[in-house]
Amino acid sequence: MGPINVNEFEEVAKRKMHKLAYDFIAGGAEEEYTLRANREAFGRWYLIPRFMRDVTNIDTSTTVFGSKLPFPFFISPTGGKNLVLPNADETVAQAALATKTAICTATGVSKILEEGKPLVWWSNTIGSPNKASAVSYAKRIEDQGGKAIVLTIDNPYQSNRDRNNRNRFDYGYMQTGVPKAGDPPRPPRNPARAAMWQPHTPNLTWDWIDWVRSGSQIPIMVKGVLHPGDAKMAIERGANAISVSNHGGRQLDGAIGSLDALPDVVDAVGGKIPVYVDGGVRRGQDIVKALAIGAKGVLLGRAPLWGLGAFGQKGVERVLELLGMELKLAMALAGVRNLADIDRSMIKRVV
Ligand SMILES: Cc1cc2nc3c(=O)[nH]c(=O)nc-3n(C[C@H](O)[C@H](O)[C@H](O)COP(=O)(O)O)c2cc1C
Repeated sequence: MGPINVNEFEEVAKRKMHKLAYDFIAGGAEEEYTLRANREAFGRWYLIPRFMRDVTNIDTSTTVFGSKLPFPFFISPTGGKNLVLPNADETVAQAALATKTAICTATGVSKILEEGKPLVWWSNTIGSPNKASAVSYAKRIEDQGGKAIVLTIDNPYQSNRDRNNRNRFDYGYMQTGVPKAGDPPRPPRNPARAAMWQPHTPNLTWDWIDWVRSGSQIPIMVKGVLHPGDAKMAIERGANAISVSNHGGRQLDGAIGSLDALPDVVDAVGGKIPVYVDGGVRRGQDIVKALAIGAKGVLLGRAPLWGLGAFGQKGVERVLELLGMELKLAMALAGVRNLADIDRSMIKRVV
């Protein structure tokens, strides 16, 4: 029998993948406290179901940035998919198209968009150094058919990832794929140098949103918010949505688990803009928990990648269908017929 849940997709993917690629995807920063906290947080929150309601029909559909979608989960940006398969962005996007799931990538979906297919695509960026490049980026994404920009705010520097350091992981592999037998071994890395001073966008500030807004109305989701103060800043500076996220435990180790950060952020936002969340979602019930706390939807990082590693495009589709089925069942068993019925009265943090 094939895998029956996302964790089993991970097991199959792990067997098929190069160790270096598996570790790159599965791993987090340093002690992996935050990586574990994302998953463990779901184990601290429990649902309080209602019964004696007619749950014959369950509607899981939602609207995000003007696109109506069958489920409130979307494919989060993940660099380095080529470590799993060549042209992996394109392959995952084909699965997104087949399952009507929104996908966020930095690159790799241009062919599908050029063919005029109804892919709901958001573009991921870590910002740009000045106003002119921010505006031209936003216009380019709008012209290419992007429905939103997802600005990742949590990686001013490359983080310190022990698994990659131990494996002598080279970020060049993200373009070329994993090394082949016979390739010369990489020199050992100096973790301190590798981690601390590989800048991404160390000078990024909220001005970036002003820059984009000065020349474009494309919706902006700010991804990587954990502090309620940052949520308020994002609203003040004109963001259209935020995602509560710690980058899947891959940036600041020791940062709070996403689901545990969610309630304070939702309260600070006070319904002014939609709040999404990502980190550790592996089950349909996880999505119900996130929505019960106040998220409008969730982003999926590793789950689709495990489908990809296990069975390519079909594997991604199966993971998305599985999560959709689990979500629908969890809603029915909890006594909610549509996403609007899910509220905080049906969840409690225990421990
Ligand atoms: C292999 C990999 C690469 C990632 N690359 C990016 C990226 O380029 N930009 C970004 O904003 N987040 C990136 N992330 C973080 C995800 O978008 C998401 O926040 C995180 O994976 C969610 O946690 P989950 O994997 O437990 O679902 C990456 C995550 C993984 C696993």
